[in-house]
Amino acid sequence: MSNSVTFKTSPNGKLTGTLRVPGDKSMSHRSIMLGSLADGTTHVTGFLTGEDCIATMNAFRKMGVAIEGPSGANGNEVTIHGIGMHGLQKPESDLDMGNSGTAMRLMTGLLAGQSFDSTLIGDESLSSRPMNRITKPLASMGAVIETQEGGTAPLNIKGGHKLTGIHYDMPVASAQVKSAVLLAGLYAEGESSVTEPGITRDHSERMLRGFGYDVTTNGNSMRLVGGGSLTACDIDVPADISSAAFFMVGASIAEGSDITLQHVGINPTRTGVIDILKLMGADITLSNQQEVGGEPVADIRIRSAKLKGIHFPEELVPLAIDEFPVLFVAAACAEGETRLTGAEELRVKESDRIQVMVDGLVNCGIDAVATPDGIIIQSGQLTSGTVESHGDHRIAMAFSIAGLRANGEITINNCANVNTSFPDFIGLASGVGLNISAK
Ligand code: S3P
Repeated sequence: MSNSVTFKTSPNGKLTGTLRVPGDKSMSHRSIMLGSLADGTTHVTGFLTGEDCIATMNAFRKMGVAIEGPSGANGNEVTIHGIGMHGLQKPESDLDMGNSGTAMRLMTGLLAGQSFDSTLIGDESLSSRPMNRITKPLASMGAVIETQEGGTAPLNIKGGHKLTGIHYDMPVASAQVKSAVLLAGLYAEGESSVTEPGITRDHSERMLRGFGYDVTTNGNSMRLVGGGSLTACDIDVPADISSAAFFMVGASIAEGSDITLQHVGINPTRTGVIDILKLMGADITLSNQQEVGGEPVADIRIRSAKLKGIHFPEELVPLAIDEFPVLFVAAACAEGETRLTGAEELRVKESDRIQVMVDGLVNCGIDAVATPDGIIIQSGQLTSGTVESHGDHRIAMAFSIAGLRANGEITINNCANVNTSFPDFIGLASGVGLNISAK
């Protein structure tokens, strides 16, 4: 897809049937990183073939790791021939992380501990996002990383510097910062630990344990001791709850909907969207709950329901951090007022998700106001309108879902990046009843 991809929705859709959305983005990135550094061969199924995870895969290939796939009947199997903690080779050119903050921040942690220099670059959006939140703690471990003025990428990571474990009190609740420190900690002398100010996703800790590495979690603190090794394992990546969220909201707001989302990851650090939608009155039931490879999964059934506006509980913000664009669409369709506070992080995602959502909602007839750390939305009738997604995948998909309740067509510009996290969104979404086309 080129940059000029435009989505267009038309009214009267409803969501019915059964759907398995693509694999979890966070876990897919981590499976490539840890599989590459492990001793032995790691098989991954359910891998997300979105552009973000492919960027991570290509980066490790450039550093000498043999990775087969994506292949298999569903095109989502990957085999990684791990080369051990010290097997990576200096890449011959810059490593391009595309649109992916996770790839850039986690890899900076890993690369800080290597013997060679490397440079991480990204697209326009990624090159404007804050990287000093990771370079600062990494520098205090002894890493040498040059950023651009303002603490942005490209990042020049100097190899061959001895790292020493630190304890880091994280100023922001960020799984990416936690993971960068822990991954650098694998190469550091002694113990590395972090304390987070709010619960963040714990896929790094779980997957490290899955690869046989000892990581201790004690309340809000996680620690590990450097110098160990990883042992290859098999990973079944569940469907991404962040991708499922679009259909959870869509089915809730479109009358007559009844959809089942299969094999969705319901790690408790990710389920804020379910809790928030239930508080708004959504009809959501979980079945088939099981644990797969150290991660809980379930089938999620959603039927349409009358939603009501709420003040989103602040403690749920980190647990639903990627789901707010579509939750704002739910809010527009809920009765009364919805407020979000304590979510300034949304301003430094792939776009400024507060401002961009306000602009889009207003263009579609909704009374929405941005605040420094959140939003205030009054329920109303979504109308036809044109929305700029600013190349942010989740904004583009959120307004696609808004199309279910709009009384006219919604045109969404700059949608190519939907492929970073949700390949074939248009195909899967139209298959279950969303009236949408791309051109
Ligand atoms: C992610 C962590 C979150 C999230 C991102 C993926 C991860 O970012 O928004 O999409 O895989 O660790 P922060 O840690 O910056 O909140």
